[in-house]
Amino acid sequence: MIRFENVTKKFGDEIIVENINVTINDGDVIAIVGPSGAGKSTFMRMINLLEVPSSGKIYVDGEEVTAKDYDIAVARKKIGMVFQEFHLFKHLTVIENIMRPQIDIMNKTVPEAYKESVRLLDLVALQERAYSYPKELSGGQKQRVAIARALAMDPKIILFDEPTSALDPNMVEEVETVIDELSHMGKTMVIVTHEMEFARKISNRVFYMDEHTIYEEGTPDEIFDKPKRAKTRTFVNNLRLLNINIDRKDRDFWEIGAEIRRYAVKNHISPKCMTRLTLAFDELVREIILSSLDEPRINVIIEYSRKTDTLKMSVKYNGDQFNPKDTKNGLAYYVLESTSSDITYTELKNDEVYKNQVDLILKNDTD
Ligand SMILES: Nc1ncnc2c1ncn2[C@@H]1O[C@H](COP(=O)(O)OP(=O)(O)OP(=O)(O)O)[C@@H](O)[C@H]1O
Ligand SMILES: [Mg+2]
Repeated sequence: MIRFENVTKKFGDEIIVENINVTINDGDVIAIVGPSGAGKSTFMRMINLLEVPSSGKIYVDGEEVTAKDYDIAVARKKIGMVFQEFHLFKHLTVIENIMRPQIDIMNKTVPEAYKESVRLLDLVALQERAYSYPKELSGGQKQRVAIARALAMDPKIILFDEPTSALDPNMVEEVETVIDELSHMGKTMVIVTHEMEFARKISNRVFYMDEHTIYEEGTPDEIFDKPKRAKTRTFVNNLRLLNINIDRKDRDFWEIGAEIRRYAVKNHISPKCMTRLTLAFDELVREIILSSLDEPRINVIIEYSRKTDTLKMSVKYNGDQFNPKDTKNGLAYYVLESTSSDITYTELKNDEVYKNQVDLILKNDTD
Protein backbone atom coordinates (compact mmCIF):
# COMPACT_ATOMS: atom_id res chain seq x y z
CA MET A 1 0.00 0.00 0.00
CA ILE A 2 1.18 3.47 -0.85
CA ARG A 3 -0.05 6.50 1.05
CA PHE A 4 0.54 10.19 0.35
CA GLU A 5 -0.11 12.60 3.21
CA ASN A 6 -0.21 16.30 2.39
CA VAL A 7 2.50 15.91 -0.19
CA THR A 8 3.72 19.04 -1.95
CA LYS A 9 6.48 19.28 -4.51
CA LYS A 10 8.08 22.50 -5.63
CA PHE A 11 10.87 23.18 -8.08
CA GLY A 12 12.38 26.39 -6.76
CA ASP A 13 9.40 28.59 -5.98
CA GLU A 14 7.15 26.88 -8.47
CA ILE A 15 4.53 24.60 -7.01
CA ILE A 16 4.22 21.48 -9.12
CA VAL A 17 1.82 19.46 -7.02
CA GLU A 18 0.24 20.59 -3.80
CA ASN A 19 -1.25 18.85 -0.81
CA ILE A 20 -1.82 15.45 -2.29
CA ASN A 21 -3.61 12.96 -0.06
CA VAL A 22 -4.21 9.61 -1.63
CA THR A 23 -3.95 5.89 -0.93
CA ILE A 24 -3.05 3.28 -3.52
CA ASN A 25 -4.05 -0.21 -2.41
CA ASP A 26 -2.31 -3.48 -3.13
CA GLY A 27 -3.45 -4.80 -6.50
CA ASP A 28 -4.68 -1.41 -7.70
CA VAL A 29 -3.99 -0.53 -11.30
CA ILE A 30 -3.97 3.25 -11.45
CA ALA A 31 -4.01 5.18 -14.70
CA ILE A 32 -2.83 8.76 -14.40
CA VAL A 33 -4.08 11.05 -17.13
CA GLY A 34 -4.17 14.79 -17.65
CA PRO A 35 -2.66 17.62 -19.65
CA SER A 36 1.05 17.99 -20.28
CA GLY A 37 2.82 19.68 -17.38
CA ALA A 38 0.15 18.73 -14.85
CA GLY A 39 2.71 16.96 -12.68
CA LYS A 40 1.90 13.36 -13.58
CA SER A 41 5.52 12.27 -13.87
CA THR A 42 6.51 14.24 -10.80
CA PHE A 43 3.76 12.60 -8.74
CA MET A 44 4.76 9.15 -9.91
CA ARG A 45 8.49 9.71 -9.44
CA MET A 46 7.87 10.64 -5.83
CA ILE A 47 6.56 7.13 -5.18
CA ASN A 48 10.06 5.68 -5.56
CA LEU A 49 11.78 8.87 -4.43
CA LEU A 50 13.27 9.76 -7.80
CA GLU A 51 11.78 13.09 -6.75
CA VAL A 52 11.80 13.99 -3.09
CA PRO A 53 8.71 15.79 -1.79
CA SER A 54 9.21 19.36 -0.56
CA SER A 55 6.83 18.62 2.30
CA GLY A 56 4.45 15.92 3.44
CA LYS A 57 4.93 12.21 3.98
CA ILE A 58 4.86 9.11 1.81
CA TYR A 59 4.35 5.63 3.21
CA VAL A 60 5.03 2.35 1.43
CA ASP A 61 3.63 -0.69 3.26
CA GLY A 62 3.30 1.33 6.43
CA GLU A 63 6.89 2.58 6.45
CA GLU A 64 7.56 6.25 5.99
CA VAL A 65 9.92 6.39 3.02
CA THR A 66 10.31 10.15 3.37
CA ALA A 67 11.74 9.77 6.89
CA LYS A 68 15.31 11.10 7.24
CA ASP A 69 16.90 7.79 8.20
CA TYR A 70 14.95 5.68 5.70
CA ASP A 71 17.05 3.48 3.40
CA ILE A 72 15.84 4.30 -0.12
CA ALA A 73 17.29 1.05 -1.44
CA VAL A 74 14.59 -0.84 0.47
CA ALA A 75 11.79 0.98 -1.34
CA ARG A 76 13.54 0.71 -4.69
CA LYS A 77 13.59 -3.09 -4.36
CA LYS A 78 9.84 -3.10 -3.97
CA ILE A 79 9.16 -0.62 -6.72
CA GLY A 80 10.15 -1.14 -10.34
CA MET A 81 9.96 1.54 -12.97
CA VAL A 82 9.62 1.52 -16.75
CA PHE A 83 10.44 4.71 -18.63
CA GLN A 84 9.36 6.16 -21.93
CA GLU A 85 12.86 5.82 -23.43
CA PHE A 86 13.51 2.23 -22.25
CA HIS A 87 16.89 2.97 -20.52
CA LEU A 88 18.46 -0.37 -21.48
CA PHE A 89 22.20 -1.00 -21.16
CA LYS A 90 23.42 -0.66 -24.74
CA HIS A 91 26.55 -2.77 -24.34
CA LEU A 92 24.67 -5.74 -22.86
CA THR A 93 22.58 -8.33 -24.70
CA VAL A 94 18.89 -8.63 -23.97
CA ILE A 95 19.33 -11.48 -21.53
CA GLU A 96 22.27 -9.78 -19.82
CA ASN A 97 20.14 -6.68 -19.37
CA ILE A 98 17.64 -8.79 -17.46
CA MET A 99 20.21 -10.86 -15.54
CA ARG A 100 22.44 -7.99 -14.43
CA PRO A 101 20.23 -6.40 -11.76
CA GLN A 102 19.35 -9.81 -10.35
CA ILE A 103 23.04 -10.56 -9.84
CA ASP A 104 24.11 -7.08 -8.74
CA ILE A 105 21.21 -6.12 -6.54
CA MET A 106 19.49 -9.34 -5.53
CA ASN A 107 22.73 -11.32 -5.16
CA LYS A 108 21.47 -14.21 -7.28
CA THR A 109 23.86 -16.71 -8.81
CA VAL A 110 24.35 -16.63 -12.58
CA PRO A 111 22.34 -19.84 -13.19
CA GLU A 112 19.48 -18.54 -11.03
CA ALA A 113 19.43 -15.21 -12.83
CA TYR A 114 19.62 -16.94 -16.19
CA LYS A 115 16.70 -19.23 -15.43
CA GLU A 116 14.51 -16.35 -14.27
CA SER A 117 15.49 -14.26 -17.32
CA VAL A 118 14.45 -17.02 -19.70
CA ARG A 119 11.09 -17.21 -17.96
CA LEU A 120 10.62 -13.44 -18.21
CA LEU A 121 11.63 -13.34 -21.86
CA ASP A 122 8.97 -15.93 -22.47
CA LEU A 123 6.45 -13.74 -20.66
CA VAL A 124 7.19 -10.80 -22.97
CA ALA A 125 7.44 -13.12 -26.01
CA LEU A 126 11.08 -12.36 -26.79
CA GLN A 127 12.93 -15.59 -26.16
CA GLU A 128 14.38 -15.68 -29.66
CA ARG A 129 15.93 -12.24 -29.07
CA ALA A 130 17.88 -13.21 -25.93
CA TYR A 131 21.28 -12.66 -27.53
CA SER A 132 20.47 -9.53 -29.54
CA TYR A 133 21.72 -6.12 -28.51
CA PRO A 134 19.22 -3.30 -27.85
CA LYS A 135 20.13 -1.52 -31.08
CA GLU A 136 18.98 -4.58 -33.03
CA LEU A 137 15.47 -4.38 -31.60
CA SER A 138 12.37 -2.42 -32.55
CA GLY A 139 11.05 0.14 -30.07
CA GLY A 140 8.26 -2.19 -29.00
CA GLN A 141 10.74 -5.00 -28.38
CA LYS A 142 13.05 -2.71 -26.40
CA GLN A 143 10.18 -1.67 -24.20
CA ARG A 144 9.23 -5.30 -23.61
CA VAL A 145 12.82 -6.00 -22.53
CA ALA A 146 12.66 -3.02 -20.18
CA ILE A 147 9.46 -4.44 -18.68
CA ALA A 148 11.07 -7.87 -18.26
CA ARG A 149 14.05 -6.21 -16.57
CA ALA A 150 11.80 -4.35 -14.15
CA LEU A 151 10.00 -7.62 -13.38
CA ALA A 152 13.29 -9.40 -12.73
CA MET A 153 13.54 -7.56 -9.42
CA ASP A 154 10.19 -9.09 -8.51
CA PRO A 155 8.80 -5.73 -7.45
CA LYS A 156 5.48 -5.46 -5.66
CA ILE A 157 4.74 -2.22 -7.42
CA ILE A 158 5.57 -1.20 -10.97
CA LEU A 159 5.51 2.37 -12.23
CA PHE A 160 5.18 3.12 -15.94
CA ASP A 161 5.76 6.62 -17.27
CA GLU A 162 4.25 6.81 -20.76
CA PRO A 163 5.55 3.38 -21.71
CA THR A 164 4.24 3.59 -25.28
CA SER A 165 4.65 7.22 -26.24
CA ALA A 166 8.08 6.80 -27.85
CA LEU A 167 6.83 3.97 -30.04
CA ASP A 168 5.60 3.86 -33.61
CA PRO A 169 1.82 3.47 -33.61
CA ASN A 170 2.00 -0.11 -34.83
CA MET A 171 4.08 -1.15 -31.80
CA VAL A 172 1.89 0.31 -29.13
CA GLU A 173 -0.38 -2.69 -28.92
CA GLU A 174 2.30 -5.31 -28.29
CA VAL A 175 3.53 -3.35 -25.28
CA GLU A 176 0.03 -2.65 -24.01
CA THR A 177 -0.74 -6.36 -24.23
CA VAL A 178 2.21 -7.19 -21.99
CA ILE A 179 1.20 -4.56 -19.43
CA ASP A 180 -2.37 -5.81 -19.55
CA GLU A 181 -1.15 -9.33 -18.74
CA LEU A 182 0.75 -8.03 -15.70
CA SER A 183 -2.38 -6.34 -14.42
CA HIS A 184 -4.02 -9.75 -14.22
CA MET A 185 -1.14 -11.10 -12.14
CA GLY A 186 -2.09 -8.93 -9.19
CA LYS A 187 0.83 -6.50 -9.37
CA THR A 188 0.16 -3.01 -8.11
CA MET A 189 0.71 -0.72 -11.06
CA VAL A 190 0.71 3.01 -11.66
CA ILE A 191 0.69 4.05 -15.30
CA VAL A 192 0.96 7.52 -16.75
CA THR A 193 -0.47 7.38 -20.24
CA HIS A 194 -1.94 9.45 -23.02
CA GLU A 195 -3.64 6.37 -24.48
CA MET A 196 -7.11 6.75 -23.07
CA GLU A 197 -8.62 3.53 -24.34
CA PHE A 198 -5.73 1.70 -22.77
CA ALA A 199 -6.15 3.63 -19.50
CA ARG A 200 -9.79 2.72 -19.48
CA LYS A 201 -9.26 -0.92 -20.24
CA ILE A 202 -6.43 -1.63 -17.86
CA SER A 203 -7.13 0.37 -14.70
CA ASN A 204 -9.51 0.05 -11.79
CA ARG A 205 -8.93 3.69 -10.80
CA VAL A 206 -8.14 6.74 -12.88
CA PHE A 207 -6.47 9.86 -11.49
CA TYR A 208 -7.08 12.96 -13.56
CA MET A 209 -4.33 15.44 -12.69
CA ASP A 210 -4.75 19.17 -13.15
CA GLU A 211 -4.41 22.35 -11.09
CA HIS A 212 -1.40 20.93 -9.22
CA THR A 213 -3.31 18.05 -7.74
CA ILE A 214 -5.34 14.91 -8.34
CA TYR A 215 -8.23 17.00 -9.56
CA GLU A 216 -10.66 14.11 -9.91
CA GLU A 217 -10.42 10.41 -9.34
CA GLY A 218 -12.83 7.61 -10.08
CA THR A 219 -13.40 4.38 -11.92
CA PRO A 220 -12.66 4.49 -15.65
CA ASP A 221 -16.39 4.73 -16.38
CA GLU A 222 -16.79 7.61 -13.94
CA ILE A 223 -13.89 9.59 -15.34
CA PHE A 224 -14.42 8.92 -19.04
CA ASP A 225 -18.22 8.77 -19.23
CA LYS A 226 -19.48 10.79 -16.26
CA PRO A 227 -16.77 13.21 -15.17
CA LYS A 228 -18.01 15.45 -12.37
CA ARG A 229 -15.75 18.45 -12.55
CA ALA A 230 -15.39 21.06 -15.29
CA LYS A 231 -11.76 20.51 -16.28
CA THR A 232 -12.10 16.75 -16.38
CA ARG A 233 -15.12 17.15 -18.61
CA THR A 234 -13.28 19.43 -21.03
CA PHE A 235 -10.32 17.08 -21.12
CA VAL A 236 -12.46 14.04 -21.80
CA ASN A 237 -14.53 15.78 -24.46
CA ASN A 238 -11.47 16.98 -26.31
CA LEU A 239 -10.27 13.40 -26.60
CA ARG A 240 -13.04 12.72 -29.02
CA LEU A 241 -11.64 15.29 -31.41
CA LEU A 242 -8.83 14.81 -33.83
CA ASN A 243 -7.28 18.09 -34.95
CA ILE A 244 -5.02 18.14 -38.01
CA ASN A 245 -3.28 21.17 -39.47
CA ILE A 246 -1.75 21.25 -42.92
CA ASP A 247 0.41 24.24 -43.71
CA ARG A 248 2.68 23.01 -46.46
CA LYS A 249 2.26 21.12 -49.70
CA ASP A 250 4.64 18.31 -48.79
CA ARG A 251 3.03 17.41 -45.47
CA ASP A 252 3.50 13.71 -44.69
CA PHE A 253 0.15 12.15 -45.53
CA TRP A 254 1.25 8.69 -44.51
CA GLU A 255 1.72 9.99 -40.99
CA ILE A 256 -1.68 11.70 -41.03
CA GLY A 257 -3.24 8.46 -42.27
CA ALA A 258 -1.68 6.60 -39.34
CA GLU A 259 -3.01 9.23 -36.96
CA ILE A 260 -6.52 8.90 -38.36
CA ARG A 261 -6.38 5.11 -38.05
CA ARG A 262 -5.28 5.36 -34.41
CA TYR A 263 -8.07 7.80 -33.69
CA ALA A 264 -10.56 5.41 -35.30
CA VAL A 265 -9.32 2.46 -33.26
CA LYS A 266 -9.41 4.48 -30.03
CA ASN A 267 -12.98 5.53 -30.64
CA HIS A 268 -14.16 2.09 -31.73
CA ILE A 269 -15.07 3.30 -35.18
CA SER A 270 -15.91 0.35 -37.44
CA PRO A 271 -13.39 -0.60 -40.15
CA LYS A 272 -15.93 0.33 -42.81
CA CYS A 273 -16.43 3.83 -41.41
CA MET A 274 -12.69 4.25 -40.98
CA THR A 275 -12.21 3.44 -44.67
CA ARG A 276 -14.84 6.05 -45.58
CA LEU A 277 -13.14 8.56 -43.31
CA THR A 278 -9.68 8.08 -44.82
CA LEU A 279 -11.19 8.13 -48.30
CA ALA A 280 -13.13 11.33 -47.62
CA PHE A 281 -10.01 12.91 -46.13
CA ASP A 282 -7.86 11.95 -49.11
CA GLU A 283 -10.31 13.09 -51.77
CA LEU A 284 -11.44 16.31 -50.13
CA VAL A 285 -8.32 17.54 -48.37
CA ARG A 286 -5.58 16.20 -50.55
CA GLU A 287 -7.04 15.88 -54.04
CA ILE A 288 -9.48 18.77 -54.11
CA ILE A 289 -8.41 21.41 -51.58
CA LEU A 290 -4.65 21.04 -51.22
CA SER A 291 -4.09 20.87 -54.97
CA SER A 292 -5.96 24.18 -55.38
CA LEU A 293 -3.76 26.12 -52.92
CA ASP A 294 -0.22 27.43 -53.29
CA GLU A 295 0.28 28.26 -49.63
CA PRO A 296 -2.12 25.98 -47.86
CA ARG A 297 -3.56 26.62 -44.43
CA ILE A 298 -5.97 23.80 -43.80
CA ASN A 299 -7.49 22.80 -40.48
CA VAL A 300 -9.34 19.52 -40.18
CA ILE A 301 -11.37 18.49 -37.15
CA ILE A 302 -12.73 14.99 -36.94
CA GLU A 303 -15.29 14.30 -34.28
CA TYR A 304 -16.95 11.07 -33.34
CA SER A 305 -19.98 10.91 -31.09
CA ARG A 306 -20.47 7.55 -29.51
CA LYS A 307 -23.94 8.51 -28.34
CA THR A 308 -25.35 9.14 -31.80
CA ASP A 309 -22.76 6.99 -33.61
CA THR A 310 -21.97 9.80 -36.04
CA LEU A 311 -18.65 10.76 -37.49
CA LYS A 312 -18.17 14.32 -38.69
CA MET A 313 -15.33 16.00 -40.47
CA SER A 314 -15.02 19.74 -40.63
CA VAL A 315 -12.43 21.29 -42.96
CA LYS A 316 -11.46 24.97 -43.01
CA TYR A 317 -9.06 26.38 -45.59
CA ASN A 318 -7.64 29.59 -46.97
CA GLY A 319 -7.58 30.88 -50.53
CA ASP A 320 -10.38 32.37 -52.62
CA GLN A 321 -13.93 31.34 -52.15
CA PHE A 322 -14.03 27.78 -53.42
CA ASN A 323 -16.80 25.21 -53.11
CA PRO A 324 -15.33 21.73 -53.62
CA LYS A 325 -18.38 20.92 -55.70
CA ASP A 326 -16.91 23.15 -58.40
CA THR A 327 -13.66 21.23 -58.57
CA LYS A 328 -12.30 20.14 -61.92
CA ASN A 329 -11.57 16.79 -60.34
CA GLY A 330 -15.04 15.34 -60.81
CA LEU A 331 -13.96 11.84 -59.93
CA ALA A 332 -12.61 12.93 -56.52
CA TYR A 333 -15.87 14.70 -55.74
CA TYR A 334 -17.86 11.69 -56.87
CA VAL A 335 -15.88 9.45 -54.50
CA LEU A 336 -16.27 12.01 -51.71
CA GLU A 337 -20.05 12.00 -52.19
CA SER A 338 -20.11 8.23 -51.90
CA THR A 339 -18.59 8.46 -48.39
CA SER A 340 -20.94 11.03 -46.92
CA SER A 341 -24.59 11.43 -46.16
CA ASP A 342 -24.29 15.21 -46.03
CA ILE A 343 -21.81 17.75 -47.41
CA THR A 344 -22.24 21.42 -46.57
CA TYR A 345 -20.13 24.28 -47.85
CA THR A 346 -19.95 27.65 -46.07
CA GLU A 347 -18.08 30.78 -47.05
CA LEU A 348 -16.37 32.25 -43.98
CA LYS A 349 -16.59 36.01 -44.06
CA ASN A 350 -15.04 37.00 -40.75
CA ASP A 351 -12.08 34.70 -40.35
CA GLU A 352 -8.57 36.09 -40.82
CA VAL A 353 -7.09 32.93 -42.24
CA TYR A 354 -9.78 30.54 -43.27
CA LYS A 355 -12.16 31.64 -46.00
CA ASN A 356 -13.95 28.38 -46.61
CA GLN A 357 -15.47 25.58 -44.57
CA VAL A 358 -16.82 22.20 -45.55
CA ASP A 359 -18.72 19.99 -43.11
CA LEU A 360 -19.25 16.35 -43.82
CA ILE A 361 -21.27 13.72 -42.07
CA LEU A 362 -19.83 10.37 -42.94
CA LYS A 363 -22.24 7.58 -43.78
CA ASN A 364 -22.35 5.00 -41.02
CA ASP A 365 -22.96 1.29 -41.27
CA THR A 366 -26.72 1.56 -41.07
CA ASP A 367 -26.99 4.03 -43.98
N1 LIG B 1 13.62 18.89 -12.54
C1 LIG B 1 12.78 19.89 -12.74
N2 LIG B 1 13.12 21.16 -12.49
C2 LIG B 1 12.25 22.19 -12.67
N3 LIG B 1 10.99 22.03 -13.10
C3 LIG B 1 10.57 20.79 -13.39
C4 LIG B 1 11.44 19.64 -13.23
N4 LIG B 1 10.74 18.54 -13.57
C5 LIG B 1 9.51 18.98 -13.95
N5 LIG B 1 9.41 20.31 -13.82
C6 LIG B 1 8.19 21.11 -14.09
O1 LIG B 1 7.13 20.56 -13.36
C7 LIG B 1 5.92 20.61 -14.10
C8 LIG B 1 5.29 19.25 -14.13
O2 LIG B 1 6.14 18.37 -14.87
P1 LIG B 1 5.81 16.84 -15.09
O3 LIG B 1 6.91 16.30 -15.90
O4 LIG B 1 5.52 16.20 -13.78
O5 LIG B 1 4.46 16.95 -15.94
P2 LIG B 1 3.66 15.81 -16.70
O6 LIG B 1 2.24 15.90 -16.25
O7 LIG B 1 4.35 14.51 -16.53
O8 LIG B 1 3.73 16.30 -18.22
P3 LIG B 1 3.90 15.44 -19.58
O9 LIG B 1 2.53 14.92 -19.91
O10 LIG B 1 4.33 16.48 -20.58
O11 LIG B 1 4.92 14.38 -19.36
C9 LIG B 1 6.28 21.18 -15.45
O12 LIG B 1 5.91 22.53 -15.46
C10 LIG B 1 7.76 21.01 -15.54
O13 LIG B 1 8.32 22.02 -16.33
MG1 LIG C 1 5.39 13.25 -17.83
